[in-house]
Amino acid sequence: MSIAFVPGSFDPMHLGHLDVVDQALEVFGAVVIGVLHNPSKPSGLFTPDERVALAEQTVGDRQNVTVGAFSGLAVQAAAAAGADIIVKGLRTTNDFDIEQQMAHNNVALTGIRTVFVPCRPDLAYISSRFIREISSQGVSINHMVVPAVSAALSTKHGEVNS
Ligand code: PNS
Repeated sequence: MSIAFVPGSFDPMHLGHLDVVDQALEVFGAVVIGVLHNPSKPSGLFTPDERVALAEQTVGDRQNVTVGAFSGLAVQAAAAAGADIIVKGLRTTNDFDIEQQMAHNNVALTGIRTVFVPCRPDLAYISSRFIREISSQGVSINHMVVPAVSAALSTKHGEVNS
């Protein structure tokens, strides 16, 4: 069994992310989800702790999946987690350009390689940014996230708007 590190902002985690985790789990056997916490930049909609909790609720009772926050470089966090490989999902060719550059940097820094997996076509339109935007208008995003995330978005927008 190998350990795959799946990094991201996860603000919040959605079903497209979950599919990437499932693909990584199937191929490598164990997954560490790394939630980026950048202390020098203001938090997104959810705090890092909230994003970790929502990622944990999204993966549910899957075995061999853990979630943690990291700051700094993803590849350093991958090494610290004992990961053998970084796994990233690609939605479009636009994703590939920047991801390829990061992959080259990451292997040069630590020897940890990156594997890209194609996002499931029916989920490839989903992004955290649009989930935040759509849900802020009170429109349902239930087809894009697990119920716990949907509920957290409703609560968060209520807080933000109050
Ligand atoms: O969900 P996102 O925002 O697309 O995830 C991007 C993320 C967090 C995976 C990427 O920005 C990242 O790895 N950031 C940490 C800093 C880093 O490692 N940068 C790359 C240097 S080569």
